[in-house]
Amino acid sequence: VDADGTRVFELTAQSGSTEFHPGVTTPTWGFNGTYLGPTLVAHRGERVRVDIDNELAEPTSVHWHGMHLPAEMDGGPHQMIEPGGDWSPSWTIDQPAATLWYHPHPHGETEEHVRHGLAGLFYVQDPEEDALPLPQEYGVDDLPLIVQDAQFNSTGELKGTNMGFVGALGDEILVNGTAGPYLDVSTELVRLRLLNASTARTYSFGFSDDRGFDLVASDGGLLEQPVPLEHLRLSPGERAEIVVRLVPGETTVLRSVEPDLGVDGDGGARNGGADKFDVLELRAATTLESAASVPTTLTSIERLDPTDAATTRELELDGYAINGESMDMNRIDQVVTLGDTEVWNVVNDMDRPHNFHIHDVQFQIASIDGSPPPPELGGWKDTIYLPPQRRFELVMRFDDYASAEHPFMYHCHLLWHEDLGMMGQFVVV
Ligand code: C2O
Ligand code: CU
Ligand code: CU
Repeated sequence: VDADGTRVFELTAQSGSTEFHPGVTTPTWGFNGTYLGPTLVAHRGERVRVDIDNELAEPTSVHWHGMHLPAEMDGGPHQMIEPGGDWSPSWTIDQPAATLWYHPHPHGETEEHVRHGLAGLFYVQDPEEDALPLPQEYGVDDLPLIVQDAQFNSTGELKGTNMGFVGALGDEILVNGTAGPYLDVSTELVRLRLLNASTARTYSFGFSDDRGFDLVASDGGLLEQPVPLEHLRLSPGERAEIVVRLVPGETTVLRSVEPDLGVDGDGGARNGGADKFDVLELRAATTLESAASVPTTLTSIERLDPTDAATTRELELDGYAINGESMDMNRIDQVVTLGDTEVWNVVNDMDRPHNFHIHDVQFQIASIDGSPPPPELGGWKDTIYLPPQRRFELVMRFDDYASAEHPFMYHCHLLWHEDLGMMGQFVVV
């Protein structure tokens, strides 16, 4: 924290190498290291600044995914950092406690930059969440889990091969950059903060013995009540916080089973819908520290009412374009009026998977094909899976940060699709 009270972080994007498998050296990129980056933590109301150096041989950017902040600090494709250059965005944290993340956003290159390891978590905390009896000791009972699939070629390089429609699907899982990970658990309850940082793959997380768990938070923060689940689908860019109970001495495995992609025929299997992976083995100690049970009320969420919308937009994803237009850095696609509530109706018009992410705001899913969303999609979201031919009615409010010059992005977060142009720009004025 510097003299005027700003919390200052330092990130250096660099290249190097990582030994994921013994004796095999893989060229990788990372922040402050050779793969992934540090978890940044700040409190609601705090002023933050991130001093970023780019030591890569090519331009990159750093985007704060899920963060509510001025567009010129957003780190999208208009805020590039040249090789040897630096950038120091600053803003005031103004949103509820949540598990957010950061990653590059260079137009046409995002998939490559993220796949090589440029990603990290950004936790927002607030007093309300601090006071809840949820596991919250970082690295002990509150664990960051950055989940990625990878494929290594014979010389150890991370490859973007095995392209399905969705992009490059890997054949093994890395968690926080570790292959075949396990975790020694010392408490009855553990909170797992899952980030799907994969470029293309959608997972369905659950446990090897089908035990239930509580979903306590989605992209933008806590749910009102914990949602008991046995499986949870997470597409690229989405986060979830789950709490699971263990008994002394046991072992269970967090796994991903065949995700229901909502795609007919072989289109599911060809895009990861038939794949299963072990993700993380949890090994409980023979005595576990006791933990309070998960509270039945977590927070209250102000419900946004779609009938309050000043504007309703229709967004159709088709042919690597949105509404027939491929991303143009010099075209503004949507102009939003400051202070307005809006509805965005988003439809995947193809018979293959997509997903959808909006910068700047957290939204609520008002309906899916006219029906209320399932409870796991009932909280704040910034990224959603889009199965084919379903209409997602998203409601959001644009409270501040007007700028006619600096646009925010919305796009498919299957990063290869984003790079191909499945992205648009909006300004808030
Ligand atoms: Cu996670 Cu536009 O990005
Ligand atoms: Cu984003
Ligand atoms: Cu897509």
